[in-house]
Amino acid sequence: MSAAERVPVAVLISGRGSNMGALVAASQEPDFPARIVCVISDKADAAGLAHAREQGIEAVAVPRRDYPSKAEHEAAVIATIEASGARIIALAGYMRLLSADFVRRYAGRMINIHPSLLPAFPGLATHERALAAGCRVHGCTVHFVTEGMDEGPIIEQEAIRVVPDDTADTLAARVLAAEHRIYPRALAMLARGEVRMGSGGRTVHKVPSGD
Ligand code: GAR
Repeated sequence: MSAAERVPVAVLISGRGSNMGALVAASQEPDFPARIVCVISDKADAAGLAHAREQGIEAVAVPRRDYPSKAEHEAAVIATIEASGARIIALAGYMRLLSADFVRRYAGRMINIHPSLLPAFPGLATHERALAAGCRVHGCTVHFVTEGMDEGPIIEQEAIRVVPDDTADTLAARVLAAEHRIYPRALAMLARGEVRMGSGGRTVHKVPSGD
């Protein structure tokens, strides 16, 4: 697939960027339908920025503290996205709630990865909460971004088994491995037009996922 045929994607991060790395690795496969054109972090010291640069990808810090208001910060993020030519926005550990205007602007074109089987455990400390609730399964979700936090239509999920000796750390490690599997798959589905954000809080799958 030529570069021109692949959908350009901007990835927004706040830290480690391992999911961003998984997307970049997948996009280096010859038949992957998307290419990562820009990585944006709201933290100047995000480790993921250096990793992206090593891969030859434009990596830009847009630190929140450099802007007097949330609106001005978001305007700078949007300007960076637009300059990159990205058509899809992938949030990958971007730990800042986006405004309704931002979300509306990219409705149906912005996706997020979350470390739980949504709608269970939106928000933080998902592994601790899954353990405290006695869950026998846990997992991760890729969903379209809507105005509510961790709420949008689900595109892809993977469940993992909780085992008796699990701690939040061991669970987090297995969930993260699953995140790295489902995020590239979900991005590819969106880039190929196999899914779209439907009305009523559901994703419309044009092609059955087969599993
Ligand atoms: C990932 O576990 C991701 O699911 C989570 O932050 C981590 C980022 O790790 N995102 C959220 O909790 C969003 N609600 P990474 O920087 O190594 O990809």
